[in-house]
Amino acid sequence: MYKFAVFGNPVQHSLSPTIHNLFARQCDLSVQYDAIECTLSAFAITVRDFFLCGGHGANVTLPFKEHAFALANTVSSAARLAGAANTLCRSDDRTLFAENTDGLGLIRDLTTTQGLNLTHCRILLLGAGGAARGVLGPLMQATTHPVTLVNRTLAKAEDVAAHFSRVGKVITRSYAELADDHYDVIINATSASLSSTLPALPDTLSCRNALVYDMMYSKKPTIFMQWAKNQGASVVCDGLGMLLEQAAESFYLWTQHRPEVLAVRRQLLHPSRPL
Ligand code: ATR
Repeated sequence: MYKFAVFGNPVQHSLSPTIHNLFARQCDLSVQYDAIECTLSAFAITVRDFFLCGGHGANVTLPFKEHAFALANTVSSAARLAGAANTLCRSDDRTLFAENTDGLGLIRDLTTTQGLNLTHCRILLLGAGGAARGVLGPLMQATTHPVTLVNRTLAKAEDVAAHFSRVGKVITRSYAELADDHYDVIINATSASLSSTLPALPDTLSCRNALVYDMMYSKKPTIFMQWAKNQGASVVCDGLGMLLEQAAESFYLWTQHRPEVLAVRRQLLHPSRPL
């Protein structure tokens, strides 16, 4: 039996156990997937104990992604660029390996589920925290245009842009400077939706013909998604697809089985239907 877990604080709301149990059923694998809450000071020892007691793989969510990165013996290039990890596994030599599947998950959802060709898209990314850093590199690699990064604290966006200059050019903006801009894709990676607040987006920022994406998932459309609809966005998405795709990447890394994400999405949204 595979033993997996998600570490976070808080973590009881996490959909990861449900998602991974559905993946396991679909792939006909025996899996135990727990949600483990701990304090920051206990994080390292709790993760080590989990792997010492036979854990095969772990997901890591807020606020531990940077700590998971620091804890690992080896890290992927995506995790190094983000400075954060959402996936841990044990290597053959029993050391810890850290991966970040958030960026790939977002790109997969945009390109596979939404059918978007990102190559010539002008992308605006909101936020300069861990969530934004996790997806910025893959977004920059997906489009030929420089990605625009906007943040309430502009200096933080400038720091992130400097860090990612090894990948390419990032344009930084304050919210007020977006007034006359137009983008093909607008992605909210701020934590504003968590507190049902809207970043200070100017009313004149048009979303016409744009795909607008809130990386947060909630049962009801977030305030940001409602704003996008009012601004004329052609497609408005929440973060469920990204959540599923990043989970599928983790599951693949741990088991070498690739789940069918769309079937699991249907099952999550309509639990009474067969998988
Ligand atoms: P996470 O790991 O989820 O990214 P974080 O590192 O605390 O969390 O970053 C939160 C991000 O959301 C930051 O970019 C923050 O902006 P500041 O750097 O200016 O603090 C952004 N954020 C949070 N609340 C916001 C709000 N109401 N409007 C705009 N941006 C907000």
